[in-house]
Amino acid sequence: EKYGYLHQDNHIHNQAEMQSAIREFQWLSRLPITGELDRATLRQMAEPRCGVSDEGSQQLWAQRVNAIFTAGRDHGGQPRRRKKRSASQGEKWYKRHLTYQIVNWPRHLSPGPVRLAVRAAFQLWSNVSGLVFQEAPEGPADIRLAFYEGDHNDGSSNAFDGPGGTLAHAFLPCRGEAHFDMAERWTLNGHKGHNLFMVTAHEIGHTLGLEHSPVRHALMSPYYRKLGRSLVLSWDDIIAVQQLYGKPLGGRPVRLPGQVFHAALQEWELADAPSGHQGTAQPLYCQGVFDAITMDQNETVLVFRGSVYWTVSAEGTVSAALPLRQRWPQLPLAIEAAAFSPLDSKWYFFKGKRMWRYTGSKLDPGFPRKSSDLGLPRHPDCAFYYAPLGHLVLFKGSRYFVLNLKTLRSEPYYPRRLSDWTGVPQGTNGVLTRPDGRLYLFRQHQFWRFDPVKVRVTREGTWVQELSWTGCSNTLLNNNIL
Ligand SMILES: *[C@@H]1O[C@H](CO)[C@@H](O)[C@H](O)[C@H]1NC(C)=O
Ligand SMILES: *[C@@H]1O[C@H](CO)[C@@H](O)[C@H](O)[C@H]1NC(C)=O
Ligand SMILES: [Zn+2]
Ligand SMILES: [Zn+2]
Repeated sequence: EKYGYLHQDNHIHNQAEMQSAIREFQWLSRLPITGELDRATLRQMAEPRCGVSDEGSQQLWAQRVNAIFTAGRDHGGQPRRRKKRSASQGEKWYKRHLTYQIVNWPRHLSPGPVRLAVRAAFQLWSNVSGLVFQEAPEGPADIRLAFYEGDHNDGSSNAFDGPGGTLAHAFLPCRGEAHFDMAERWTLNGHKGHNLFMVTAHEIGHTLGLEHSPVRHALMSPYYRKLGRSLVLSWDDIIAVQQLYGKPLGGRPVRLPGQVFHAALQEWELADAPSGHQGTAQPLYCQGVFDAITMDQNETVLVFRGSVYWTVSAEGTVSAALPLRQRWPQLPLAIEAAAFSPLDSKWYFFKGKRMWRYTGSKLDPGFPRKSSDLGLPRHPDCAFYYAPLGHLVLFKGSRYFVLNLKTLRSEPYYPRRLSDWTGVPQGTNGVLTRPDGRLYLFRQHQFWRFDPVKVRVTREGTWVQELSWTGCSNTLLNNNIL
């Protein structure tokens, strides 16, 4: 009902309606069309996605493809028939020059890089169509982007649902509004969370009049897509926008692969980071978002974010942002979990479905290895060496996994439920063991201290302020000076 497959005015749906709705959903989601609520379908329904209804996407796509084959005969000028959609009257802008405005800002990201990312997201579309965009920082604007939490006065079915689920939604022309869920963990450069550049680019597509696409890798697919290496816009996105607004004025469309944006977003973030060593200057990760944290044998803390990392020495000196792949060549652009193991003095990194192991800066032969071959999950939340077990532990959602580092096999009787770790929340982004043997777990701004002797969490707080060894609070430095 929420995404337009069943009509709400008709509360009891008979079997035929249900099957047809499921078939339509499977078609748009590129699943085998069974008409049954099978496992794959249920799993797909739980994927993070755009909040705009999928209603009518199938017909529009059919018309779009049809128009390619009849392009010589008519010029796409036929009015497209669209199912009723209450809030919208028009379906495209009748001007080529549009202004946009960022009304408010997401938490944990600086405005500078967000502004550049939004500009790039608009450029993505103007580079392949006859449109031109310009930011209007104040006053009226055609398209307004805003962050809201929960219900935000555009109907209860549009209320945001916290992290995951619906990430954002937007309105078709000429309402010119895109709304983003403030409660999401937004990121720019490929570290954990949802990539604001990708979601903005998708929502802009709606504000221009595009609906959801069934094409694999289309930016206008209803499901969240990571910023990967492949091209951000698919052929279907380009045809859809060109059918409304024509080809770019300057001639050939410009399309760039995801990697280019990844590098650019990283650069903007770092360029914006406060520098210098005085006063309140803090490294970028102190905003509260990082991918992984660990500690080496010299009690140096390492904090990973995107394609860089920082070191915090035992004395509290923080390094500059250092390129990840300079120290550990052959790692991917960013990682999801990292652990230094004092048992074998090796580094373990995780990303997607693979694990990398390094001795110093040298990748061990035979790595990366597939996590599934080791009995480990994909996309772990965090990883750490746990001395009481003598093994590496991975957290993932509601479960944890234990890897024997000598045999490189998952220990028997695991995974087990995370509730074994009394007081530890789900979805932590990093964990490390401090020299006193206690475990510190991080999730955004908060930390939990786990005592292995008492086998429970014994302290909680805000790490930026309370844990000087993270390199974010100046108290340690001040104390030293005093
Ligand atoms: C758009 O095209 C220009 C000119 O070729 C290029 O410099 C820019 O990076 C492109 N931007 C995007 C987002 O593709
Ligand atoms: C740790 O300290 C030792 C000397 O105490 C030094 O040789 C080694 O390079 C340091 N390791 C790292 C990773 O910095
Ligand atoms: Zn959408
Ligand atoms: Zn809204």
